Amino acid sequence: MRALLVRRCGRAVHCSLIPGVFMDNLAVIILAAGLSTRMKSEKSKVLHKICGLPLIYYSINEVQALNFDKLVIVVGRDKQLEFEPILPAVNNLEYCEQKEAKGTADAVMSAASILKEHEGYTLILPGDVPLITGSAINHLIDTVSSSNSICGVISTYFNNPYSYGRIVRDEKGDFVAIREEKDASVEEKKITEINTGVFLIKSKWLFEKLEDVKPENAQKEYYLTDIVEMAIKENLAIKAVPIIPATQFVGVNTREDLAYVDKMLNMIIAKSWMDAGVSIQDPNATYIDSGVEIGVDSFIAPSCFLRGRTKIGKNCRIDTGAVIEDSIIGDNVHVKPYTVIENGELKNDVIIGPFSRIRPETILEKDVRVGNFVEVKKSILHVGVKANHLTYIGDAEIGAKTNIGCGTITCNYDGKKKHKTTIGKNVFVGSDTQFVAPVSIGDGAVIGAGSTITKDVPENALALSRAKQENIKDYKKK
Ligand code: UD1
Ligand code: MG
Repeated sequence: MRALLVRRCGRAVHCSLIPGVFMDNLAVIILAAGLSTRMKSEKSKVLHKICGLPLIYYSINEVQALNFDKLVIVVGRDKQLEFEPILPAVNNLEYCEQKEAKGTADAVMSAASILKEHEGYTLILPGDVPLITGSAINHLIDTVSSSNSICGVISTYFNNPYSYGRIVRDEKGDFVAIREEKDASVEEKKITEINTGVFLIKSKWLFEKLEDVKPENAQKEYYLTDIVEMAIKENLAIKAVPIIPATQFVGVNTREDLAYVDKMLNMIIAKSWMDAGVSIQDPNATYIDSGVEIGVDSFIAPSCFLRGRTKIGKNCRIDTGAVIEDSIIGDNVHVKPYTVIENGELKNDVIIGPFSRIRPETILEKDVRVGNFVEVKKSILHVGVKANHLTYIGDAEIGAKTNIGCGTITCNYDGKKKHKTTIGKNVFVGSDTQFVAPVSIGDGAVIGAGSTITKDVPENALALSRAKQENIKDYKKK
């Protein structure tokens, strides 16, 4: 794993101190057409997820606040359909294809048909640097535009700069080139100031110069980084803008990098919820996706996974091993250990688990109790329902304060279709009952234990369907 250095050299700017800036005539390109060779993946590496969202989603989020004319995402040949459905809808977004992955300069060049007449600057972001902050981008924009430079790049410092392009400076400290790992001399490899891959370049000049980039390097690729020496040759003003903390610029090239940025982001998310009044017993062992919300005074035990668009209310207790995905949890809810909730809604004061499973389209209203080895699917359990042990409830509606005994099953599937079970209020369901759906039970009914209910039961009736017990005297002796 790369060791990161937050260098207190006085030159680098701490990005969180920079306010938003405004730039007219700004275009943005995000590069996402690489082959993901080091990731050893059949899909684009920028579609791999950290904390629930694809890597590239985070860069898009950070540039959304900029008042850009156009955002161009460069994808590989025939890849647009893989990106479109999972990325956020953004105004002025266009995709373009890089037919063959021939390097970062070639990738930018594929946006020429859209941007070569653009008046202003183009911001270029690699799609594999998900932790980048908007304030770092703002600082680059501010520095480049205020110095009227032709080109600026964000640099940072890594203790172990292996695999990054190095920022080469002359004796005066002026920025003169970017040297890729594979082309660097032994001396250049020692440089710890690196190219983050984030550039801001005058659009017209950029697209004119890209025509002249040649694949004359160890990788035989068209390097965007060659643009720096082209500007120097023309005596144009360029800037390498050092920004810390460096963590936000880690590029994801390998599965190890992916795990690293996932961990970093998870820690950032956990910290932000702790700052907002949530207790997380072991932030290192709790996994919270970017889209999750948690109310004040809730407590999250270790080894929980809070995924997708889950919302957890105030003063909840989420015990160890809970996996909660795309679900809404009210206030004062207790989720006991090893409970799995997917696309469900639990209203206030529900107690669930241990070892319960809530499947999609389930609503547990206030004060519902669902206990161990109970599975509920596409059902609504009204206020105060109890189903405490070993039960399957599917495609059902259960009225307020009904008690579902241990081992109850709604037989909802006849091999072809699903059918509904409707149970009224204040019903007492004895243990080991099967409801063969479609079937309806009136309010206040009592179902004798061990019954197989195939016919509707009227209000307040007792339904018993088990065979009458017969005792054969002295059977064993015979
Ligand atoms: C690049 C930089 C390096 C920098 C590092 C920062 C170059 C030549 N090198 O190296 O100086 O330190 O980023 O993370 O620019 N891509 C395409 N088409 C291609 C090649 C790449 O769209 O033909 C995209 C990739 O999908 C990725 C981004 O460009 O999102 C960067 O490419 P990658 O291969 O990761 O470059 P690095 O080796 O990391
Ligand atoms: Mg990279």
